[in-house]
Amino acid sequence: MFDFFPVSAKEFDGPVLVTGAGGCIGSWALALLEHAGVEVHAFDLQIDKRRPGMLMDDAALGRVVWHAGDIADTQAVKAVVKKSGAQAIIHLAALPTLWLGHWSMWWVRSMCLKLPRPMGFKD
Ligand SMILES: NC(=O)c1ccc[n+]([C@@H]2O[C@H](COP(=O)([O-])OP(=O)(O)OC[C@H]3O[C@@H](n4cnc5c(N)ncnc54)[C@H](O)[C@@H]3O)[C@@H](O)[C@H]2O)c1
Repeated sequence: MFDFFPVSAKEFDGPVLVTGAGGCIGSWALALLEHAGVEVHAFDLQIDKRRPGMLMDDAALGRVVWHAGDIADTQAVKAVVKKSGAQAIIHLAALPTLWLGHWSMWWVRSMCLKLPRPMGFKD
């Protein structure tokens, strides 16, 4: 699979920081970069290696440097950029499941499912 998406370490001047690294696309970004020999730093709300672990073996996963933090916390982001020495950032941190929008989510919640509020949801 890695052969379909070749990444060259020469394209990067230094470490790469991937936000949303524990997610679907972030896991692929981590795996492809690490496979290419790029120093990779992972940033996500919490350190959860389950999804990247489906694509990388323990040795590869162990070479990724993990940082827990909130992308909305500017100081935390500045600190991790400084600490990692990142020369590039692949920004994937997001809440893609909110694509329905606030009103649709409110309708689903109140009329149908009586679900608790999803993370980040505001009336
Ligand atoms: N999955 C797809 O098919 C697809 C297609 C096109 C575009 N995208 C876009 O790519 C991006 C990532 O999608 P995905 O499918 O990997 O989503 P995902 O939900 O699998 O991963 C998102 C990651 O972001 C993290 N995250 C959320 N809020 C955060 C915050 N405040 N601080 C730090 N981390 C935070 C989550 O913990 C999660 O690990 C989104 O912007 C999405 O819209 C995805």
